[in-house]
Amino acid sequence: MTSMQGRTAVVTGAAGAIGQEVVRQLLAAGVERAVIADIPGSSIETVAEGLASEGAQVRGYALDAADRDAFAQMLAGAGSFIGPVDVLVNVAGYWQIVDFVDSDPAQWDRMISANLLTAMAACHVVLPQMIERASGSIVNFASTAGEYGSIRASAAYAAAKGGVIAFTKSLAREVSPLGIRVNAISPGPIDTPALKVASAQARQQAANRTLVGRLGEPADIASGVVYLASDASGFVTGTVLQVNGGSLL
Ligand SMILES: NC(=O)c1ccc[n+]([C@@H]2O[C@H](COP(=O)([O-])OP(=O)(O)OC[C@H]3O[C@@H](n4cnc5c(N)ncnc54)[C@H](O)[C@@H]3O)[C@@H](O)[C@H]2O)c1
Repeated sequence: MTSMQGRTAVVTGAAGAIGQEVVRQLLAAGVERAVIADIPGSSIETVAEGLASEGAQVRGYALDAADRDAFAQMLAGAGSFIGPVDVLVNVAGYWQIVDFVDSDPAQWDRMISANLLTAMAACHVVLPQMIERASGSIVNFASTAGEYGSIRASAAYAAAKGGVIAFTKSLAREVSPLGIRVNAISPGPIDTPALKVASAQARQQAANRTLVGRLGEPADIASGVVYLASDASGFVTGTVLQVNGGSLL
């Protein structure tokens, strides 16, 4: 019996490459029921149907997770299915390569909204019930760009992910004494379609920068998430788990 047996989870950005693997690994680790969300127009319903056809208790919802009220409505609607939420994983994110001087405020808004406001809205909705039960684990998605600044032109993305880190640490200070752990995972270059916006040369350079000589896989990130979500990390809160192949030592 793993430490995730019988738990419930909510995962945003769950139609994406890493999000899908996070959901799979959470279920494999014992999570019993999951609500998974992604933006309208994503494949979230298909992803949920696929998992359900394999016997998993999963429901998929299409919404902008940065919309706090929509997120609250979704969770209220799923209430009888999901019950109290044990684990919240905010995978939702969006990355664009654009020189800051060539970017416009609408692009900054999108970056801040998809990467930071999604996590804030979901935490704001889920935390009251976690606090009531004095139990829960939240995992937010940062990025090496948010820790060190973006190597490629993506200052607004880096600012948003830096915000995720500051938010995670601050929230951990606020709610860890109430029984809820809040951590972030910070992926290095992971071989997903999102990374394909970088040129083949840039991807090879990113792989070369790691000490293990390869890009990461979604599974490398998902196993870190399972660790942070589970009781295995019971003494870990307010931390940023770097999963980057040692690329920034
Ligand atoms: N791939 C990498 O190399 C890498 C590196 C560092 C950090 N990350 C982070 O890991 C996470 C997953 O990345 P990925 O590579 O799987 O990218 P992805 O684009 O495949 O997945 C991100 C998902 O988030 C969803 N999303 C975006 N805005 C949303 C919103 N407002 N509401 C709900 N869902 C929303 C997208 O539709 C998408 O399905 C992201 O937060 C990303 O920033 C990825």
